[in-house]
Amino acid sequence: MTASSAQTLIPVNDMVRILQENVAVLDNARAALASGWWLNGTEVREFCKAFADYVGTDYCLGVANGTDALEIALRAICDIRGGTGAEAVTVANAGGYSTIACRLVGLTPVFADIERGSQLASLPSVVSAVTDETRVVIVTHLYGGVVDVPRLRAMMDEIGRGNVPIIEDCAQAHGVRLGARRAGSMGDISTFSFYPTKNLGAFGDGGAILTSDQALADHCRKLHQYGWSAKYNIVHPYGRNSRLDEVQASVLRTLLPRLDEWNDKRLTIIDAYSDAAPSSIGVVRSADGTVGHLAVLLTENRDELIQHLIDHGIMTDIHYPILDCDQAGWQELPQRLAPGGIPVSRVSVSQLLTLPCFPTMTEAEIGRVCAALSSWTR
Ligand SMILES: Cc1ncc(COP(=O)(O)O)c(C=O)c1O
Repeated sequence: MTASSAQTLIPVNDMVRILQENVAVLDNARAALASGWWLNGTEVREFCKAFADYVGTDYCLGVANGTDALEIALRAICDIRGGTGAEAVTVANAGGYSTIACRLVGLTPVFADIERGSQLASLPSVVSAVTDETRVVIVTHLYGGVVDVPRLRAMMDEIGRGNVPIIEDCAQAHGVRLGARRAGSMGDISTFSFYPTKNLGAFGDGGAILTSDQALADHCRKLHQYGWSAKYNIVHPYGRNSRLDEVQASVLRTLLPRLDEWNDKRLTIIDAYSDAAPSSIGVVRSADGTVGHLAVLLTENRDELIQHLIDHGIMTDIHYPILDCDQAGWQELPQRLAPGGIPVSRVSVSQLLTLPCFPTMTEAEIGRVCAALSSWTR
């Protein structure tokens, strides 16, 4: 069979179906607009309360997107927790977002390596990169997986670095659990994106910062609205405007009750791909827990596999094709690698391939992807 046959292309994601399955979103958004209160109103308040309850933190602040959330959280950590270090330990394979935030607040990124099977930070590599210069460690719960933050904290404690704050970037892992705790409740502060394709996605941009530390929460609240302590009173020099709006909050509030069900569906899809894929293909998966976000493969024959999938009417993508340390825009700026370098990140970057995975995929579509994987003979 080829793409020219009668079967439709299977996309990597499909936003139209999300809307079709959730028309209540439109009614609630219309009601939010009809209230005449389009910013800083009830919808944002109620969503933030529900989301903090869901994740298991005391505070949740809505912001405009996940990158702002990272930048504001980083700045708050630097302001509130003090320290003189000028470096942030992160990974190079997570799409650049943590590095962008480091650049914006003036911290030098130090790239730790990853584990091949999960593509998550290697804890020994992270710990080896922590020095007197480290102001903060940023862990990214990539592809729906979860980094063992309590274990990382214990390992940092063992080398006398237990006071270094940890930020969790949960933009790809809404709802994932490590034991009884959800990602976003284990570090000092955490950030989320509600970009439409995320596990919990808005109908536009959105983000949030969560913490149970009142001083951090208060500081982020000031930073996200002009550095105000109260209306028109600027008390912080680096405040800015980054707000979640009422319509997006109403969308998120409507969709939050479906998050666990959708996470289960994503995981079912990834399980089906794992069963169907030949042994030459690795399906990326976190051993400590996963909700499924992107279905990501590792293959030594990526170009040929992409063509094979296109021939079967299946679209693919690559998350992410360039490591942060190799991005052209940052070559003039300082950066450092963990002492052992990042060999696993380097090998993986040319082998990653993302398959369709979204909760409204039909059984027929999942079956077609599985059949295409099973028929791959290389
Ligand atoms: C891991 C990760 N962190 C941060 C972000 C940034 O989120 P946003 O696109 O909402 O700025 C994204 C998403 O796009 C992401 O995948």
